[in-house]
Amino acid sequence: FTSNLSLSLPVFYGHILVTICCYHHILSKRCYSILKSSDVLITYYTQIQAVTTTMARQIRVVVIFIYLAIFFKVSLARTYSRASIQQEVTNYCLSWRLAVEANNVRAWRTVPMRCLRYVETYMMGGQYEKDLELIMDQVLSYANSIDVAKDGMDAWILDIDDTCISNVLYYKEKRYGCDPFDVAGFKSWATKGQCPAIRPVLRLFNKLINGGFKVILLTGRDNETLGQCTINNVQSQGFVGYERLVMRTAAYKGQSAATYKSEIRRQLVEEGYRIWGNVGDQWSDLQGDFPGNRTFKLPNPMYFVP
Ligand SMILES: *[C@@H]1O[C@H](CO)[C@@H](O)[C@H](O)[C@H]1NC(C)=O
Ligand SMILES: *[C@@H]1O[C@H](CO)[C@@H](O)[C@H](O)[C@H]1NC(C)=O
Ligand SMILES: [Mg+2]
Repeated sequence: FTSNLSLSLPVFYGHILVTICCYHHILSKRCYSILKSSDVLITYYTQIQAVTTTMARQIRVVVIFIYLAIFFKVSLARTYSRASIQQEVTNYCLSWRLAVEANNVRAWRTVPMRCLRYVETYMMGGQYEKDLELIMDQVLSYANSIDVAKDGMDAWILDIDDTCISNVLYYKEKRYGCDPFDVAGFKSWATKGQCPAIRPVLRLFNKLINGGFKVILLTGRDNETLGQCTINNVQSQGFVGYERLVMRTAAYKGQSAATYKSEIRRQLVEEGYRIWGNVGDQWSDLQGDFPGNRTFKLPNPMYFVP
């Protein structure tokens, strides 16, 4: 009896230890490794085997169940934690993209490295197009509410890069904007004149023209070096019938997009154009003077133009 009692004390403590670990530190790797590696469990188990009472046998069964419970919980926790890390990254990147689109994050130079897959999925997986379609519906319902005058001065401004035509194939090679902007690389891409049309915007373009608006394409691209290839690119992609294609001339070199585009819009307004709408993928397309009665920001999580 005495020896049984002296044996049952460590059994008791062992049981307490396992129970505490089980209920309070079930997900702690430390607890798991202590139980797995230390003598605690072995001693505990050996002691239990020495005790021959019915109670001890019951405890033995309980201990084995607890051990199994811990083992499965820990391996489950590992699986969950991998999934939850991925979920955390996705959540972060969604917050980041939303903040970028809302112009809360500014002057950013690259996409956070951990958001590479997220941005790729956004751009290539269909959500980007869906977002554009929804915006186009808004643009059209606004455009349809306007009484177009007969004087031919009701104007609409569209940006070119990543508004009318897409650079996503170029940015794919730049890890969707995780790499910093490459002036020479972009120039040689643009020179090829192979940017594909952004379909929802092309449909809008045609509807605006059919609705009597004068569509003015306004881009920060340099006229001298990219003039001809840009004209060829937009026309070959179906953007025909626009009123004007305005490119950056020497006089505006070095100016921010917002300043340069404001100045061009001022000239248009002075000519008598009524700028009803303005569509661009950068905030700098839509900020500054004479932005237009309504502006529409298209998504672009790949780069920022000041
Ligand atoms: C734009 O560049 C072309 C040559 O590529 C030139 O003929 C044209 O005059 C330039 N336009 C302006 C407004 O400077
Ligand atoms: C459009 O904007 C101009 C200039 O800000 C303003 O004078 C005009 O009333 C606006 N039109 C409508 C219908 O909001
Ligand atoms: Mg653009």
